[in-house]
Amino acid sequence: MTRTKKIVGAVALLLVAGIAALAVAISRNAPCGPSVPIAPGVATMKAIVHPCYGKADVLRYEDVAVPQPGDREVLVEVRAVALNPLDWHYLTGTPYVMRLDSGLGRPRSDRLGVDFAGVVAAVGPGVTRFKPGDEVLGSRFGAFAEYAVVAEDRALVPKPSRLSFEQAAAVPVAAITALQGLRDKGRVKAGDKVLINGASGGVGTFAVQIAKALGAEVTGVCSTRNVELVRSLGADHVIDYKQDDFTRGDRRYDVIIDNVGNHPLRAVRRVLEPDGTYVMIGGPKDDRWLGPVLGFLKAPLMSLVSSQRFEVLLAGMNAADLGVLNSMIEAGQVTPVIDRTYALQDIPAAIDYLETQRARGKVVAARP
Ligand SMILES: NC(=O)c1ccc[n+]([C@@H]2O[C@H](COP(=O)([O-])OP(=O)(O)OC[C@H]3O[C@@H](n4cnc5c(N)ncnc54)[C@H](OP(=O)(O)O)[C@@H]3O)[C@@H](O)[C@H]2O)c1
Repeated sequence: MTRTKKIVGAVALLLVAGIAALAVAISRNAPCGPSVPIAPGVATMKAIVHPCYGKADVLRYEDVAVPQPGDREVLVEVRAVALNPLDWHYLTGTPYVMRLDSGLGRPRSDRLGVDFAGVVAAVGPGVTRFKPGDEVLGSRFGAFAEYAVVAEDRALVPKPSRLSFEQAAAVPVAAITALQGLRDKGRVKAGDKVLINGASGGVGTFAVQIAKALGAEVTGVCSTRNVELVRSLGADHVIDYKQDDFTRGDRRYDVIIDNVGNHPLRAVRRVLEPDGTYVMIGGPKDDRWLGPVLGFLKAPLMSLVSSQRFEVLLAGMNAADLGVLNSMIEAGQVTPVIDRTYALQDIPAAIDYLETQRARGKVVAARP
């Protein structure tokens, strides 16, 4: 063997060994450790924690320290929280690629949940927008707890008076995703023909109502049992995917909002107007390594070879968009759809239910 061949062989071997080591490191689940001890005299609250990656059975409902609001921070007594597929991804640490951020082996943070609604319990120095007793909604990592601390300039807004705490908690992630998908990525304008694939889930039920509020002609795609629900939200047309495949129909759309990602992009192209826009929001989660990431990579590539736009949304939580949604809610244009309400300590069962991907609207959990 020549010297060059030996060097190339050694480099290839090192590369394979490196990739194998990375694959093992990234997919390894460290065992669940003991609970974090709490110093004597520290005020405690109940929270949902997951000291390791796994299914809902690794979740614990246990005592943790009550967070204290610092400068320009608000302490919220949480009355209700909402679940999102995001929580399931953080719980399981899948797709594995996300562990580069959420933690290798075990989660960097053992707390879970994002969406909440509640009452301001205390404010830190310098807070001007909120005072104790205000009813609020917002998003904050670790929201599955009796209290949450949020910076006043982050995703925190007054709760619309016409919503219960359960309805208010349902808003942040799902409604902001629908709004940003339609308005920012889809650039929907009055008169546009908009199709929403996955119209009966958490994001979809908001998307149908927001698209109508933006003046679009809306087609919702759902299964037979949800046809009436989607119609009741204002959809002009409903396609029952058990009977018909929207990618084989005659109708063309200006914007397609895809919460499911179950059709190849080449099939979706066929029913998109030549200058239409496809917005990928959700994708199949069966691939434990990359999840929807592959689909997210394919969409921009498709844009390169097409007059149609293929966009990917990564929703960003912010107070301005929660304010826009509050206006739509106060105007009666948007009302959260609640499927089931669990008790806070029953969040493991709520996560199991959400994982079935059969939720009709939002799944929430509330304190008694
Ligand atoms: N990109 C982002 O920033 C972002 C933000 C939020 C969520 N997401 C993703 O968006 C997706 C949807 O989230 P979600 O909160 O709406 O989830 P969800 O509430 O769990 O969605 C459940 C709904 O999906 C419907 N569905 C399942 N299979 C379907 C199919 N083949 N065709 C049409 N509808 C189908 C179900 O209706 P049937 O029972 O009638 O089938 C059910 O109503 C998830 O993948 C989530 O991870 C992404």
